[in-house]
Amino acid sequence: MGRALARPGAEGTAKFQHALSGTQFATTSGAGGVVQSIERQGLRAEYPVEYVIGSGEHAKGFLVRLGEQLFQSPISYYRRAAKFDVAPGYEQMERPDFNRAATAECLVCHSSGAATSAGQQLTAITCDRCHGPVEAHLAQPVRSTIVNPSRLPAAQRDSVCEQCHLAGEARVANPGQNLIQFRPGEALEDRWQVFVYDRPRGDLRVVSHTEQLALSSCAKASEGQLWCGTCHQPHGEKVNNVDTRCRSCHTAPLSAAHPKQEGCAGCHMPQRSAADGGHTAFTDHRIQRVAAAPFAAPTGTTGPAIRAWREPADPALRERNRGLASIIVGERDGEARLINDGYRRLAAVYAKFPRDPDVLASLGMVLFLKDQHADAVKLLQAAVAARPTDAGLREKLAVVLNAAGEKARAVEALEKAIALDPLRETTYHLRATQEATTAGRRQVLERWLAKMPQSLVTREALRDLERRKD
Ligand code: HEC
Ligand code: HEC
Ligand code: HEC
Ligand code: HEC
Ligand code: HEC
Ligand code: HEC
Repeated sequence: MGRALARPGAEGTAKFQHALSGTQFATTSGAGGVVQSIERQGLRAEYPVEYVIGSGEHAKGFLVRLGEQLFQSPISYYRRAAKFDVAPGYEQMERPDFNRAATAECLVCHSSGAATSAGQQLTAITCDRCHGPVEAHLAQPVRSTIVNPSRLPAAQRDSVCEQCHLAGEARVANPGQNLIQFRPGEALEDRWQVFVYDRPRGDLRVVSHTEQLALSSCAKASEGQLWCGTCHQPHGEKVNNVDTRCRSCHTAPLSAAHPKQEGCAGCHMPQRSAADGGHTAFTDHRIQRVAAAPFAAPTGTTGPAIRAWREPADPALRERNRGLASIIVGERDGEARLINDGYRRLAAVYAKFPRDPDVLASLGMVLFLKDQHADAVKLLQAAVAARPTDAGLREKLAVVLNAAGEKARAVEALEKAIALDPLRETTYHLRATQEATTAGRRQVLERWLAKMPQSLVTREALRDLERRKD
């Protein structure tokens, strides 16, 4: 994990095409550093790479700096295929670009987790992410002044790895918390909750080792004994001698009929392709009896339901988080049933969280989906009042105001969103649609270009405006 994030070295040189969008990408590596370029229909831009994400064991991602902000590169390197291609998540995009800000979205798991703001140096994962605050330990370096994850009770121990190795379907922060504040020694659910589908997914994903391991009979039947640290030494070394780890529990000799007496992981933990990892393969952590059983597609007719990975003590908090998660997953999967379920849960505990911006905004957005615009506006306004610095909430408010026919206030809300977070391209594009005239739209888009003159998406939008005018 020491190389979860690093400065670029020699990263190779290549060109490739993204056919769906007709985009040419290139990456070059030389004395001037690593430079990546994008070209589409005569427009071109080029960006120096600032950081490399991932060790390249399976894949590498890249971050570029534009002004004060880091952005994700749409280019990744895939080791097994030994080639560059579009990054996971960009495959189906009609207009890929260097326009996704690398905010906490990636850095929470790939860096020390420090703030991601202006001009700051990023460091790879630091000791405190697994061992807790180090100050007391440096002042008095004895065992009792530092957390050793392997000596914690099972839930707290597992939480240390889960903060990064359990993405789930939705992660919901408790009121007043965020997804970075976890401290080793705590149980994760005291800060935030992870929600997973209530039955195994039909695929293997990059960050799903935790879910897989929990499905194994080994984990289920060993009462919290088996954890990541049983096989992994988190200080860099590879799994050393997995066979001994298996044998530490499976002490009885394997039957004579058993096919082999060594190389356990080769059959019981095979490598498979990850659904969300581009051209990567990962180790199947389900430790199954019959080797190489494929991932079964989910069965049943009721559609997906979700469950909490672990529950906090407070029943109202459980309902709140479950409600928020149901709506997140429901909106993403287009599952009305989950959205309605989430709405019911939130409505039932609303009285306990009257000023909770996440609850207010979630309820508001469901009402917006149901075309109850006036009530949606009220809820979003209350959410904004509760967390006035959140640009995303202002943007949602603008959307519902717009639907309610309150154009002037919608413009005001988006202007405020831009003032709070001037580095989100999508906000400018939304703001442009509020303008009645071509000139008005152009003016808004040019405000973004003044910040990010290279943006392909915005230059294309401006060109489209010109063409339509003719
Ligand atoms: C919830 C934590 C989490 C988030 C958020 C996250 N990652 Fe990861 N990522 C991981 C973990 C953990 C791995 C290691 C592989 C695994 O667990 O299967 C990984 C692996 C990778 C790899 C492959 C690394 C290798 O060594 O082969 C790349 C590239 C990557 N992530 C890029 C990103 C980018 C870009 C983002 C932001 C869009 C991101 N990740 C967001 C946790 C995260
Ligand atoms: C990804 C999580 C992780 C990170 C990051 C990490 N450690 Fe550890 N560390 C562990 C775990 C887990 C153990 C317990 C290993 C065991 O006992 O099997 C451990 C054990 C140790 C021990 C032995 C403690 C004892 O009581 O015997 C020391 C010393 C240590 N780590 C120092 C560091 C230092 C210094 C850093 C930063 C450079 C660091 N660790 C970063 C997870 C981590
Ligand atoms: C702060 C986030 C974070 C925490 C906490 C964390 N990991 Fe990771 N881990 C990552 C990321 C990101 C990668 C992939 C990046 C890379 O390839 O270096 C990774 C890679 C790994 C890998 C594969 C590559 C390697 O270095 O061997 C193993 C195994 C692993 N982690 C085990 C653990 C265990 C065990 C724990 C808990 C003791 C843990 N991790 C805690 C973020 C984290
Ligand atoms: C912490 C103890 C522990 C470790 C480590 C462990 N197992 Fe298990 N395993 C169990 C227990 C307990 C069961 C359930 C009882 C049984 O079948 O023996 C089990 C069951 C199994 C099964 C039967 C699965 C099924 O669905 O019927 C297989 C196969 C297996 N283990 C293989 C392995 C392999 C291979 C490793 C190493 C990669 C391993 N185990 C590591 C405890 C462990
Ligand atoms: C029973 C042993 C065992 C346990 C327990 C285990 N792993 Fe692994 N893990 C392996 C083996 C074997 C590999 C493949 C060989 C390697 O990468 O060294 C692997 C590989 C990985 C990798 C590298 C990427 C990949 O999929 O190949 C990551 C990340 C990882 N494990 C994370 C975890 C996490 C997180 C946990 C706890 C939820 C965990 N592992 C528990 C045996 C184990
Ligand atoms: C060549 C592939 C292969 C290797 C290597 C392998 N296994 Fe298995 N193992 C199997 C198959 C196939 C079965 C299912 C046999 C059955 O259901 O009759 C099995 C069944 C098992 C079971 C459950 C049935 C039983 O006999 O109790 C355990 C536990 C197990 N293996 C552990 C291990 C351990 C530990 C290792 C490493 C020392 C290992 N296996 C290596 C293929 C393999």
